[in-house]
Amino acid sequence: MSHTTSGPRLSARGLVKQFGATTALAGVDLDVAAGESVAVMGPSGSGKSTLLHCLAGILVPDAGTVALSGRGLHDLDERERSLVRRRQYGFVFQFGQLLAELPAIENVALAPMLLGTPRREATELAGRWLASLGLAGMEGRRPGELSGGQAQRVAVARALITGPEVVFADEPTGALDQATGQDVMRVLTETTRLAGASLVVVTHDAGVAAWCGRRVEVRDGRVVADERRAPEVAR
Ligand SMILES: Nc1ncnc2c1ncn2[C@@H]1O[C@H](COP(=O)(O)OP(=O)(O)OP(=O)(O)O)[C@@H](O)[C@H]1O
Ligand SMILES: [Mg+2]
Repeated sequence: MSHTTSGPRLSARGLVKQFGATTALAGVDLDVAAGESVAVMGPSGSGKSTLLHCLAGILVPDAGTVALSGRGLHDLDERERSLVRRRQYGFVFQFGQLLAELPAIENVALAPMLLGTPRREATELAGRWLASLGLAGMEGRRPGELSGGQAQRVAVARALITGPEVVFADEPTGALDQATGQDVMRVLTETTRLAGASLVVVTHDAGVAAWCGRRVEVRDGRVVADERRAPEVAR
């Protein structure tokens, strides 16, 4: 796949999304640079998840465009879009993204296997990712046998193992206590930065947003503030 090397990695223009009489997005423009981390904040119902789903090609907007490295997502058919999601995107959600019946290592190995990496190679790689995220010795545990923070580290490994260009996270710390949430944010921002991926995180929590280099505020389906500043870094 070819990518333009200049220009934003992710670029949204004029995104509009209606659900019946509800306008979830009322015209959003957003550019995300390579390696940039962006926190999307705003009140409940303001359109944050809808925006993330449109950027990720999970939802098709009623109007507007999303381009990944200059390539229009919504010019692709659903099969091509799903390939983009697997190859070029990584996802971390609040919970429910790990398969409960599979041990941690298989949950992580599944992502490269879906892209054609042989099981053995995928499993070795998954083991290295789990170890690098502090989960050595826990490879055989199922998600229910891990703490919330440990399970989110597995989710981070699964999102990053395929070398995505953009990682999307919707309330990744929503089910965790404050200290564990900070720890997961440290791991998430550090690994995406080292991988050179861009990060888009939806959160209600200013402490979570502080890990990102940019903060975008959404109200009633519009971006009402957009500020950059030095992110929190690992101490
Ligand atoms: N599938 C859907 N069907 C109908 N309405 C929807 C759907 N998804 C979202 N909406 C509506 O669109 C608006 C924006 O929802 P969205 O989920 O994007 O908000 P949010 O900012 O993520 O909120 P929260 O912080 O509570 O997660 C809300 O009014 C919501 O009720
Ligand atoms: Mg939401």
